[in-house]
This record gives sequence, structure tokens and C-alpha cells, in this order.
Amino acid sequence: MSSAVKDIKRVTTHTLQELKQKGVPIAMITAYDYSMAKLMDNAGVDVVLVGDSASNVMAGHETTLPITLDQMIYHGASVVRGCARALVVVDLPFGTYQGNSKGALNSAIRIMKESGAHAVKLEGGEEVLESVERILTAGIPVMGHLGLTPQSIYKFGTYVVRAREDAEAERLRRDAKLLEEAGCFALVLEKIPAKLAGEVARSISIPVIGIGAGGGVDGQVLVMHDMLGINREFHPRFLRRYADLYTVITEAVGHYVQDVRSKDFPNQEEQY
Ligand code: KIV
Repeated sequence: MSSAVKDIKRVTTHTLQELKQKGVPIAMITAYDYSMAKLMDNAGVDVVLVGDSASNVMAGHETTLPITLDQMIYHGASVVRGCARALVVVDLPFGTYQGNSKGALNSAIRIMKESGAHAVKLEGGEEVLESVERILTAGIPVMGHLGLTPQSIYKFGTYVVRAREDAEAERLRRDAKLLEEAGCFALVLEKIPAKLAGEVARSISIPVIGIGAGGGVDGQVLVMHDMLGINREFHPRFLRRYADLYTVITEAVGHYVQDVRSKDFPNQEEQY
């Protein structure tokens, strides 16, 4: 770990701003429970995102839409207990902030109060600006999310790369500026052309964290289950797998099953 990041006692939104100014890339990853969050935190991750991808990887739903605010708070509180250094950001789930800024503020307050998280994230630009502004009035830090926004999957119809066309790229540039001006402390850009993402990162002062958005941004985020190879089904081009935990875990558990069946486990030393 570089000295610019190893001495940080607790990562804050200000730390992220400093890292951007110093050109030190920000490492963000998702987690949903205490034990994994502790591993991520000990490994030096700067931001742990309690993503609504929990709906997919923890609950087995096809989309992120079904997860509830209570479920996000449960995951958030577990992750907060595991993180001594990382900034913990919790996703506002679908239906808890769109079209109703008072409802958005109430949802964000519940997340902060009941999970102990340090910030919230929500998807969208101009259409959710009123909600962003209202949440910020309570002193709650907000992270934006543009590009491929999985809560709108039924509008997009597919998970392909977003903002390839000029009109959508222009809208994304405008939304990024609006979120910066509103007071968001950082912005996630998901699955958009690297050139556009780099341009946006250079044009705004807040850190831009990419997922499938190339190397020209201020940091990267990956879903933990994907990068550790727990999932086998999901292999987009942007994903780098750092481990094959699917094989490690199924082999270890298979070995345990064999030992139980053969009565090799427990042996004399493993009993009282
Ligand atoms: O929910 C999530 O995991 C996310 C990341 C993909 C950025 O929003």
C-alpha cells in the first residue's frame, strides 16, 4: 500500500477528494456481511459499497429491483461492524427515492440512523436531482451513479454499454455536472466508453469511480462475488477475476462431505 493511503485512520469523503487531487486511485468494492467486509477492510479497500447488487448475489433475484430498504439496512449494519478504516456507502434501493424527495430523505435518514453507514448512493441524474438536494440538506453525503443504472433495466431492456450515441453521452455529461453542482461527493460511472468516462472525470472536481468505464477515472469498483470468482455465470469484458473461490469452496466442501461419509471426520483429536 502506498504511504499516501496506508496512514489513513478512517477514510472520509474528504479523503477521497484528496486522493483525487493527488492522483491516487481509489479502490472500492462491494460487501454485504460482517465477515467479508472485515476481509475487504483489512485488505486496504478505501470504500466498501453495500450495493443493491445484494439482491442478485445474496438473495438470488434476477434484478436489483426486489431488495427492500429494511434488507439494505440489515446488510449495511453488518458491513459497518466489519469496517474500521473504509468509508461505508449504502445503496438506496429501487422505489425509495424516485419521484418523492421527502420519501428519499426519510429513506436516507433510516439508512444512516439504523445501519451506521457514512453515505448513501442513488442512481440517476436530473430526474432525481430534487431527491439528491433534499438528502444533502440533512448533511448526508450522496454518491451519484450514471451510465448503466441497473434499477432502470426494464427501461433499457438490456445490460449493454450505455452512452455510445452522442445524445446519451451529452446527457450523461450534463447529469454529471448537475450532480457535482448539487453537492454529491463522488460519482459512479457504469459500463460506458472509456473515452467518455475519462473526459467526465477530468471535467468535474469530485472523484469518479468506474465499473466497466476504463482506466481514465479516479478509482474502480467491482462486485466482490464477481472478482473473487464465486459467481461463474457473469463474465463481462470489464471483469478481472482475482480468485476462483467457486473451485476452492466446492472442493473444500466436497472433501468435508467425503470425510463425513467415510467417518474420517471427526478423528480422535477432534472430539472430547
Ligand atoms: O449495486 C452495486 O453493486 C453497484 C455497483 C455495481 C457499482 O451499484
